[in-house]
Amino acid sequence: MIRTGVYPGSFDPVTLGHIDIIRRAAHLVDRLVIGVTTNASKTPMFTLDERLAMVRREVESICATLTVECEIDVVSFDSLLMHFAEREGASIIIRGLRAVADFEYEYQMAGMNQQLNDDIETVFLMADVSLQPIASRLVKEIAIYGGDIAPFVTPGVAADVRDRVNRQKR
Ligand code: PNS
Repeated sequence: MIRTGVYPGSFDPVTLGHIDIIRRAAHLVDRLVIGVTTNASKTPMFTLDERLAMVRREVESICATLTVECEIDVVSFDSLLMHFAEREGASIIIRGLRAVADFEYEYQMAGMNQQLNDDIETVFLMADVSLQPIASRLVKEIAIYGGDIAPFVTPGVAADVRDRVNRQKR
């Protein structure tokens, strides 16, 4: 049986923390489906199509760097996460967990998703400790105020964020 996991998120933008979680998740499942969507409580900097293209570009080479069998698909979805996971035939939903600040929100989501379908388990992974504090929201804030975001995202994503910030200033 092929074990499929979905890793959902808004990825606005995808960070080195996300990429580390993707690497770890790829070790746990036969097929990892990254689901890019729009979080109803956030106003994104990048459109869904832009975020999808960005994630695709950044994860393209991950499988080649792993020593295990690896299949990663990147798709967008516009539905309940649980319906997306069911459509993809997933047995697990992967979420990254940073320190205590994430816990309340993730605890609630995992609990409600459990009520929607108790057969699909939410699994929390922790990024490398050096990447733990990274949050897309703070990457955008640092860029808006002219700070250096190079430690938190790939060079390609850093260029995309800087371009967007500069365009918004004009
Ligand atoms: O990267 P984010 O913004 O923390 O991801 C949150 C996301 C997209 C996983 C969450 O907003 C979500 O699951 N959205 C889909 C709609 C849904 O299923 N909502 C109910 C969750 S219990």
